[in-house]
Amino acid sequence: MTSFKPIVFSGVQPTGNLHLGNYLGAIKKFVALQQSHDCIYCVVDMHAITVWQDPVELMNSTREVTAAFLAAGIDAEKHIVFNQSRVAQHAELAWVFNCVARMGWLNRMTQFKEKAGKDRENASVGLFSYPNLMASDILVYRATHVPVGDDQKQHLELCRDIAQKFNNDYSERIADLKLGVEMMVGREKINGYFPLTEPLIEGPATRIMSLRDGTKKMSKSDPSDLSRINLTDDTDAIAKKFRKARTDPDALPSESAGLAGRPEADNLVGIYAALADSSKDDVLREFGGRQFSEFKPALADLAVANLAPVAGEMRRISRDLTYIDGVLGDGAAKARTIAGETMGHVRDIVGLLQD
Ligand code: TYM
Repeated sequence: MTSFKPIVFSGVQPTGNLHLGNYLGAIKKFVALQQSHDCIYCVVDMHAITVWQDPVELMNSTREVTAAFLAAGIDAEKHIVFNQSRVAQHAELAWVFNCVARMGWLNRMTQFKEKAGKDRENASVGLFSYPNLMASDILVYRATHVPVGDDQKQHLELCRDIAQKFNNDYSERIADLKLGVEMMVGREKINGYFPLTEPLIEGPATRIMSLRDGTKKMSKSDPSDLSRINLTDDTDAIAKKFRKARTDPDALPSESAGLAGRPEADNLVGIYAALADSSKDDVLREFGGRQFSEFKPALADLAVANLAPVAGEMRRISRDLTYIDGVLGDGAAKARTIAGETMGHVRDIVGLLQD
C-alpha cells in the first residue's frame, strides 16, 4: 500500500509587523519540524491582497517575513522557502477549488465575518474565497501536516472538506488514471488524490492573547502597539510592554487548573512556557505563589533572550536584498516542480485539456 509522503506546509501573510503570536504559534514550530519532515514555508502575498496593500510596502513585507523565517532558523537549502505569487499553480488550483467548495461552507467561516465586519457587501470576493486559496496552497504539495495557530483551525477543516469532496467527486476518474493513494477516513479505506491534511495546533502557545486584553487575540491589526510584542522590538520595548501588560491582583497559582477564569495570567504563563519549551504546569511549579511583579521581569528577560538574536539576525539579513531575492527565486523553482506535477494530474482528473 502506498501512502502519502509526510510533507509540512505553512504560510504567513506579509502584512505589517510579525509579532510574538506569529513566532510562537507558527514560526518557532516551523523551525522544529525541519528535523523530522520535508518542509515548505510560504510567504502568502496573494492572501495579503485580499485587503488592499500599498504595493511597495507589500514587497518590503514579503522580504521582511522571508528574513524572519531565515533569522529564526529555517534552512532554505534543505527545505523550500518562497513567495506564493511566484508559483502560478496556487491560483490555478484555487480556481478548481472555487468550483468544489460550496457557498455554504465559506459562509460559515468566522474569520471572513470578523474581517468583513458589518460591510460585507464591500468586502473583496478574494477575502470571501480566501480559504479556497489556502486549501490550494496546502494541497498543491499534497501536504500532510500544517503547523498553525488556533485561529486557522476552521480553515484547515475546510481544506479537509475540499480534499474529501474532490476525492469523492472524481473517485472513478482518479482510480482509472491510477492516481489514487490509499488512506483511512474514519474506519473506511478510500482511494483519493488529495490527503486529508492534519493541522498541528499543539503546545501552550496556540493562541497568544493581547497584552492589553486577555480575551482578544494578539494581532497585527490591533491599534495599540502595547498589545503585542513585535519581532523587531528592542529590549526596552519588550520590558516595557510586559511591565504594562494587564494582569489581575492575585499571585500566580501553583498549577494550571488555577488559571481558569484568569485570561491575562493564563496568557503570560503560556508565553513563558512556549519560550522556555516547557509546559504551564512546569512554569507554575517554579512561579506558583509569586506576584506578577516578580514574574513579569523574568518573562521579559526570557523573551529578550529568545527574540533578540532573531531580531539581530533579521536586521542583518534584511540588508542583503540580493540574498533574500535569491532564496525566494530558488525556493519558487523547487516549489514549481512539485506544484506543476500536481496541476498536471488535476487537469487530467478534472478533464481539462493540456499540452
Ligand atoms: P497569518 O499571517 O495571520 O498568521 C501566521 C501564523 O501565525 C499564527 N498566529 C498566531 N498564533 C498564536 N497566537 C496568535 N495570536 C497568532 N496570530 C497569528 C497563525 O495561526 C498562522 O499560523 N491564513 C493564514 C496564512 C496561510 C496559511 C496557508 C497557513 C495562507 N495559506 C496555508 C497555513 C497553510 C494567515 O492568515 O496567517
